[in-house]
Amino acid sequence: MKLSEKLAALEEEEKAAENANGTLTPSAARRKAATATGPRPRTVPTSWDATKRQVRELVMEEVAPRMRGLTGDELTTEVKEAVDRILQREDVSVSPLERRKFVQEMISDTLGYGPLDALLQDATVTEIMCNNHDDIWVERNGLIERTDLSFADDSQYRQVIEKIVSAVGRRVDEASPMVDARLPDGSRVNAIIPPLAIHGSVLTIRKFSADPYTAKDLINFGTYTIDLVTVLEACVRAKLNVLVSGGTGTGKTTNLNVLSSFIPNGERIITIEDSAELQLQQPHVINLESRPANAEGQGEVKIRDLVKNALRMRPDRIIVGECRSGEALDMLQAMNTGHEGSMTTVHSNSARDGLSRLETMVLMAGFELPVKAIREQIASAIDIILHVDRLPDGRRVVTAMTEVQGLEGETILLQDIFKYRFLPGGERGKPLGELVATGLRPKFMDKMLEKEIEVPAASFRAPAPLRQPNGNGLRRRVRIPDDGEIAERERLR
Ligand SMILES: Nc1ncnc2c1ncn2[C@@H]1O[C@H](COP(=O)(O)OP(=O)(O)OP(=O)(O)O)[C@@H](O)[C@H]1O
Ligand SMILES: [Mg+2]
Repeated sequence: MKLSEKLAALEEEEKAAENANGTLTPSAARRKAATATGPRPRTVPTSWDATKRQVRELVMEEVAPRMRGLTGDELTTEVKEAVDRILQREDVSVSPLERRKFVQEMISDTLGYGPLDALLQDATVTEIMCNNHDDIWVERNGLIERTDLSFADDSQYRQVIEKIVSAVGRRVDEASPMVDARLPDGSRVNAIIPPLAIHGSVLTIRKFSADPYTAKDLINFGTYTIDLVTVLEACVRAKLNVLVSGGTGTGKTTNLNVLSSFIPNGERIITIEDSAELQLQQPHVINLESRPANAEGQGEVKIRDLVKNALRMRPDRIIVGECRSGEALDMLQAMNTGHEGSMTTVHSNSARDGLSRLETMVLMAGFELPVKAIREQIASAIDIILHVDRLPDGRRVVTAMTEVQGLEGETILLQDIFKYRFLPGGERGKPLGELVATGLRPKFMDKMLEKEIEVPAASFRAPAPLRQPNGNGLRRRVRIPDDGEIAERERLR
């Protein structure tokens, strides 16, 4: 049967299925529900999809045996020729424009990652989230939106997942249904498949910019101010230990990368991550990456093991991509024992919450340490916390730079040095605000003086308090009555 005849039969089948008043398949039901509520119409199987699927299978049949040993360009030519041949042979009529698009899509499907290629090339996309073969979402400018792209079918989707995962020597199957991987450009990938992902395989790609953000970029985005950068640079040069805190996807790793760019060139830096994302530009950097267990449950190397190993590698600074568990204890110990200037990140809702999370993680190391002892370790190890957040309009901002000032009783004393303040006049969902100094002189200035690192006093100067149009301060003034007044009021009552 010719492809065109097959297609006609397929279309008939699709129509019959639509007309039958039976129940929808789970995928069709999801599609229907999403179309009703989603911002963009969902992809429905079209004859274009069906044609593509058929041609793709035929191309694969023709090209696969010849693929071994071919370079990228040679493969592209092979695929182009095979597509042309098959379109002609199977009598598929497509316009020249469609044909070009078809060839391009076929090349992507065969050699690349199918519909993901276009998204990977699109610089405005920062995250790709595939919830199913026909349900692809992206993040642009900090906001999530649904695309109308889709894989030809679930089998192509699974092939792409397997291709990505196997390229880094890992595998995804029932025995190992969730896996972290990386694309050749360094983008971070996570895949989780059924039965863990109940409605189908989920692929999440955090895109990686070949040209990492710099402090200048973050100033332009409104994440940093010049004053904050001046202070942060001095803190890093003075070897203060830094904790970057924030929610998921708020920019913790990006901030860690920018902070590490302030480390002077002469130092030996060791980075430790689950999935290497940091891109340090210094000449003397060693990158370590943890490893999950193999199929037999052996060979796992945790971040914790790497931190311990790093201590034997004569590091000047240790940068741990993210503290999630017991490694927090080793990290704190490293910070307290001669590896000042180290940095890490933690998932949390605020600076103080970040410290509580650290406390819990230290307990996860398995030692029954008293709370006070843990807090002492934290208070003497961490010097500053940089808290990042994502605003409702998608902007990522630093909402606080907080100094850890020590321990009083069992409480860790924190002092905001910079704080984000919201300004009147913002629209709904688009708040107006700015990061300003609180006007307090940080204790770490003594360390700066000791190391002869200068920070202009003006960087810490607080702006004038906000005023309402009528000139009154926004804060309500509360006058505390003196004892005489209180006694008089009591008497009158
Ligand atoms: N200040 C910023 N302005 C605009 N985009 C940013 C900013 N910081 C980070 N991004 C972008 O936001 C995305 C998430 O950043 P990043 O990976 O640093 O977040 P994260 O907090 O480490 O995430 P996770 O919790 O998943 O580890 C990336 O695509 C990054 O390029
Ligand atoms: Mg991160």
